[in-house]
Amino acid sequence: MPERFKNRVSDYTARVNGCLEAALPTEATRPRRLHSAMRYAVLNGGKRVRPLLVYAAGECLGVEAELLDAPAVAIELIHAFSLVHDDLPAMDDDDLRRGKPTVHREYDEATAILAADALQPLAFSVLATLDGAPAGGAIRLVQLIANACGSTGMTGGQSIDLDAEGTILSVADLEHMYALKTGALIHAAIVSPALLRDDLVAADVAALDSFGRTIGLAFQIKDDILDVEGETGVIGKPAGSDQARNKPTYPAMFGIAASRARCDELLLQAMQGLDHFGKAAEPLRWVARFIVERSQ
Ligand code: IPE
Ligand code: IPE
Ligand code: MG
Ligand code: MG
Ligand code: MG
Repeated sequence: MPERFKNRVSDYTARVNGCLEAALPTEATRPRRLHSAMRYAVLNGGKRVRPLLVYAAGECLGVEAELLDAPAVAIELIHAFSLVHDDLPAMDDDDLRRGKPTVHREYDEATAILAADALQPLAFSVLATLDGAPAGGAIRLVQLIANACGSTGMTGGQSIDLDAEGTILSVADLEHMYALKTGALIHAAIVSPALLRDDLVAADVAALDSFGRTIGLAFQIKDDILDVEGETGVIGKPAGSDQARNKPTYPAMFGIAASRARCDELLLQAMQGLDHFGKAAEPLRWVARFIVERSQ
């Protein structure tokens, strides 16, 4: 990754971290334990890939960063809530997240459930502060993010994931599950800046839409590869968790080589789709490469 892009990543990460910090109630706000758990869930590290995608797609479309903060924060809050629930004993039953004890381990199960419950409406409350969007843009953003989070998005995908434990899925069904549980929020991050402009042509929206779907799928396949090949100390979550729970993942069903090949194929497809934007899509290209090449 070139130096100038690394600097941009640290600027955007610092920017979204500042906005997240400001959006979360302080530890001193009652109920203190709940607010402490919410802050722990959000401010305990994380790559901030979804906010980076919001800012990169925004740069591609020429949307000012001030307008991008609300969707970047909202999507990261929803992502954090999904991780807290994903780690619960009733779901993946994991003890480590981002190199630290999971929220239900650091606090307790009830607090973890409630902290995640509260992060979700906080996300929509942040979206409601959006000022300066084109007419109807803010409402369409709320709908986009709500759908990406709901039963035909992330939550639906998590339900399919749990039902699929111990079973065998076809490639189509596996990719459908990935598109929902992980792809939906990543896609929402990428297309949200398009709702902050009212002068885009259909081809611009279609190109972002297709890039969002492709790279969202690649993200989950890479996550599954890291579950097999990564080390707990590097990935910050228990390596081998998928196998321990008998999850039908891409590597489990088709092997590591086929999983890598599918990831590369999706990256290539995603990159080709960005040709439409020319040089303006450079930040999106770097985030896409990072998604497939990352080691954590
Ligand atoms: C992990 O997401 C959960 C999935 C959807 C695969 P990330 O890998 O983006 O997790 P953080 O936010 O960096 O911890
Ligand atoms: C999680 O997929 C997707 C979510 C919606 C949180 P995983 O269960 O594979 O995510 P990790 O590996 O625990 O981060
Ligand atoms: Mg899971
Ligand atoms: Mg998990
Ligand atoms: Mg995983």
